Amino acid sequence: MHPKVRKAVFPAAGLGTRFLPATKAQPKEMLPLVDKPLIQYGVEEAIQSSIQNIIIVTGRGKSSIEDHFDVNFEMEHLLESKKKKDLLKLVRDISDMIDVCYVRQKEALGLGHAVLRASELVGREPFAVVLSDDVIDAEIPCLRQLLDIHEFFGASVVALMEVPSEQISAYGVVDAEPVDHNGARDRLFRIRNMVEKPKAGEAPSNLAIIGRYILVPEIFDSINAIPPGAGGEIQLTDALKHLLRNRPIYGYKFEGKRYDAGDKLGFLKATVEFALRRNDLGGPFREYLKTLSL
Ligand code: UTP
Repeated sequence: MHPKVRKAVFPAAGLGTRFLPATKAQPKEMLPLVDKPLIQYGVEEAIQSSIQNIIIVTGRGKSSIEDHFDVNFEMEHLLESKKKKDLLKLVRDISDMIDVCYVRQKEALGLGHAVLRASELVGREPFAVVLSDDVIDAEIPCLRQLLDIHEFFGASVVALMEVPSEQISAYGVVDAEPVDHNGARDRLFRIRNMVEKPKAGEAPSNLAIIGRYILVPEIFDSINAIPPGAGGEIQLTDALKHLLRNRPIYGYKFEGKRYDAGDKLGFLKATVEFALRRNDLGGPFREYLKTLSL
């Protein structure tokens, strides 16, 4: 058994251009899925996976993220005086949830660069990375599934998902061999190589890396060592490739469903499915959908 991972880094300094104009003056991470900002889903997943410290990498125009996880005295006072106990608890629970600290990425120079900004706060210990626009619905939180693999092997682990060939060029794709783990060979892989956004027909597999990672601290040395890649950005996939030269990296095909909520269509799909599952909204929402002539 390897030591437990305590910290999770949430890169949230990207510009969210796929979601313009909503993201012109508002962080993508604060877009609400039904009634909860995307980043809160990710933070709750981390807490349920027994993470103790959250580090959010923010940038210009992202102060509403800090406000969201802070105390709102005025709101609490108002709800208290109106005896709205349930709402008061809802608001308080967010700021009581966990300790969050922040570090700024002054320029959006890429995901790898954003992760590197957290290196001082992480120190030399393994840590998790959560991209909160990948919302994952799973019985066992996706991050917990990866942490179980990390605690067994003591190595980096990335979340993998099967992607249809016509969409594979949008992802980092792995070349990997299955590993027998607890008698099962269908979910765990040892990664041999990876390619960021391969051209159609050139992808080494149909297994794409999605936004959950457990990383060893040597990844910081790899990020420092690599030049800017695609789009002139410091890419995390390039740093993982560099790390692969002398450290093993595992991929885990997690159990659960992932929604790309940073993309307009993915966000709509997630909104409908999450709303339908809600006890308070699901019934009337389903009835409403049935009235639409689709
Ligand atoms: P994305 O590529 O999905 O986010 O990066 P983006 O760049 O904000 O969005 P689009 O593609 O322009 O619509 C994945 C994650 O990495 C963060 C983003 O905030 C997002 O959570 N990120 C990306 C940074 O923190 N800094 C960066 O320089 C780039």
